Parts: sequence; structure tokens; C-alpha cells
Amino acid sequence: MNLLRTKSVEQSIRDTESPEHQLNRSLSALDLVVFGVGIIIGTGIFVLTGQVARDKAGPAVAISFVLAAIVCGLAALCYAEFASTIPVAGSAYTFSYATLGEFPAWIIGWDLVLELALAAAVVSVGWSGYAVSLLDDAGVTLPAELVHPPGEAGGAVNVPAIVLVLAVTVLLVLGIKVSARFTVAIVAVKLSVVLLVIVAGLFFVKGANYHPFIPPSEATPTVEGGSAPLMQVLFGIKPATFGWLGIFAAVSVVFFAYIGFDVVATAAEEARRPQRDLPIGLIGSLVITAILYAVVSIVVTGMQNYKDLSTEAPLADAFKAVGHPAFATVISFGAVVGLTTVVLILLLGQSRVFFAMSRDGLLPPRLSTVHPRFGTPYRSTVIMGVVVAAIAGFIPLAKLAELVNIGTLFAFLVVSVGVVVLRRTRPELPRAFRTPLVPLIPVLSVLACLFVMINLPVDTWLRFLAWLLVGVAVYFAYGRRHSRLAGGRV
Ligand code: ALA
Repeated sequence: MNLLRTKSVEQSIRDTESPEHQLNRSLSALDLVVFGVGIIIGTGIFVLTGQVARDKAGPAVAISFVLAAIVCGLAALCYAEFASTIPVAGSAYTFSYATLGEFPAWIIGWDLVLELALAAAVVSVGWSGYAVSLLDDAGVTLPAELVHPPGEAGGAVNVPAIVLVLAVTVLLVLGIKVSARFTVAIVAVKLSVVLLVIVAGLFFVKGANYHPFIPPSEATPTVEGGSAPLMQVLFGIKPATFGWLGIFAAVSVVFFAYIGFDVVATAAEEARRPQRDLPIGLIGSLVITAILYAVVSIVVTGMQNYKDLSTEAPLADAFKAVGHPAFATVISFGAVVGLTTVVLILLLGQSRVFFAMSRDGLLPPRLSTVHPRFGTPYRSTVIMGVVVAAIAGFIPLAKLAELVNIGTLFAFLVVSVGVVVLRRTRPELPRAFRTPLVPLIPVLSVLACLFVMINLPVDTWLRFLAWLLVGVAVYFAYGRRHSRLAGGRV
């Protein structure tokens, strides 16, 4: 039964008080909202909108964005209760350690690598695409071998993506306060660009582009076997795009656009007043981005017929299509700047999850020692930066984005279950924020996550299960014996 040993909430909080393992408490509620918006707006709206409108949902991609926001909103209500009860680093990992037990917590921490580190790699590759196109506008053309991974468009290595990840890693080692200030400035640029798309784009919207708003469903004979959504395989439905099935399939992709709001929870240990500020940070940033996404996707699909949208830079290219290339350059610039913050915050979240896991002895404790001058867990940050840079430089990532989504949905699902468990096992704990209508909201959250997950392709499920099996092996080879709860070395 010691697979289910739990770390008490009091112990979790006490651990953050030992000096060599202490992070600075410097973030306010506003910092957290900025943090959330800074990570949420990224490749999802800048790149995936066009791809998904074109291939899966048409103008109805706006509906997919709203549905994905509801799924995230339900999970956010659960995250907020947990984050405000257990304000220590590590997010879903810490929450599960206090509720479901060590083994499930390890699995969640392992799973979060898919969400955070892998998503950072995906976003840096997206960044690289925009950076290369901006350089092109400026007359500098990099050779194809240096801007694509092996096996794609004659590439050998994606140098810009590697450079970005390593530069961000240096910032993280230098300390969170530097990173947070840097983030505020960049978020302002990113928001201005998104608002520019909305305001300027409105002048070019043509009503005819909204007919039909939900394009009729079509069978897609090319999608079969491993590429078919699990739901369609399970229920024997012929793979189809557009129509409502297309809208649901689009939800499972555009979900990526919201990933990161939960990273606000991983900064709990660095918040000044976590009990009040975390729920504001989580839900505030989600509501702001959901509104922006729905409006941006309606504007863009109104500017250009969905069949003509570009899949690489849809927001910028829509302005080129209506004869305004100068707007397009400004938008591309904003995307380059904006995606930088996304990578920064994803990697920050990942380094904090590693920090928490190693402090608990499930990973080697040397990883959690903080730098005497910078006050950051520099060892885990550097190792992670190098690995993510290698992934971003050498692996083609289209499919990996789906893997990021399934990993994240799984974490949401566990957190939602955890809320109900903790209400039963520790009803007396003070909760600055209580999820409304428990157990209804957590149950709806679990069902919503499952629904989006089964809309992902079969091969994504297989990769996800393989990753979890590796995690199980690592736990039994290392964590189980070295865990501090097992009396392992501290
Ligand atoms: N939500 C982030 C993005 O869209 C990960 O890039």
C-alpha cells in the first residue's frame, strides 16, 4: 500500500520553509494574471487557428475555442481550490501527492513533462518559423538545412529553435524576478498585436465568408487506423471532418491554445498571497484569453474564406490577402515576441515541477538545491534547457502537439478527482477558494476532459501510454526507494 502513501498538506507547506529550498515570494495577483495571459496566448491562436479552420471546422472554429475554454474553465475551478489550499511549488504534482498518494503523484509529475517541456519545444519550433519569415522580410535568408529538423523540407537542424530555448534557460537561471519583468513588457506587445488583428481586421470582414458557418460534414477516407480519433474507432463511426464531429476534433487541437493557465498554480510558492491571488490569476487569465480567441477566429475567418487560410501564419497572411502586408509584418513581429514568453513560462513551470519532485526525493536531491546568488534551482533548469533544446532542434513536432494535449488533459482529470478526494479526507483544511457545486463541477470536468481526449487520434493514445510506462519504470527503479516518505536520503 505504500504506493499510495501521501505527503501531508502540513508537510508540503513546511518543506517550503527550509532555507536552502526556499524560493522568493515576490508575485502579486496582477503578476499572476499577466503570467497566465503571457503563457496562454501563443502558437494556438497564432498558428493553429488557420490549420483547424481549414481542415476541421471552418468558421465554426470559434465554437471549438469556446468549448475548449469551457473544458479548461471547469478544470480551472478545481485547480483554484487545490492551488489555494496547498500553496507550494509543483502544481498538479503536489496536489496529487497530498491526496491520491505518491505513485499517482509521480505519474502526474512525469505526465507534466509532456505538458510543459514538450510544449515548450513545440512553441519554440513555431517561433522559429515566424523568426525565419521576419528575417526573410528583412532580406536575410537562412539555408533550409539550418531552419528545419531532419526529414522536413531539406532540414538538418532547427538552429533558431535551439538558440531560443538556450537563451530562455539563461534568463531562468538568473531568477524569476528578472523573468517576470521581462514577461510584463512582452505580454503588452502580444496583447497589442492580438487587439490590432481584431480592430483592423473588422474592416475587412465579408459576411459571405460565414456561409456556411458550420461547413457540412464530409467523410475523410485518408484518415484511418492510427490517425483516426479514438472516439470514431470506438463507436465505429467513419472518420469525418467538418460538421459537429469536425468541431469536436478541432476542440482537441485548439485546446493547446489554453495550455498554460495552470502554470499559474505552479508559481504558488512564489506568490505573495497565494490564497487570494491564485484563483484570480487562474480564472482571470482564462476568461481574458477565451474572449480574445473567439473574437480573433471570427474576424480571421470573416476576412478570408476558411479554405484559403494559411496554415503557417494565418493571422499575418489574412492581412496580406486583403492587401495590407505592413500589418502582416507587425503581426509576425508580435508573434515572435509573444511566443518567446510562452517558452519562458512553460520552462519555468517545468523547472519548478522538477524542483518539487527532487525535494521529495523522487528525483535526485541535488537537482533541487537553489543557487546561492540567484535563488533559482539552477541544476534542474540547465539540464531541462539542454534536453528541450535538443528536442526542438531535431524532432519534427506536428504530432507532438497532440501528445502535449493528451498529457495536459490527463493532469486536469486527476486534479478534478483530487478535489473530491481532499474534501472527503481533509474537510477541515482552510480553503481560500472553494470549487462551487462539488462534486458536480469536478465530475463535469472529468467528463469534459475524457471527451476531448477520445477525440484525439489512436496513435497519440499509444505514445501517451508508452510515456507513462517509462515513468512507471523510473519510479520503481529510483523514486520508490529514495522518496523522503520512505526515509530516503534528504
Ligand atoms: N497556449 C500556448 C500556446 O498557444 C501553449 O502556444
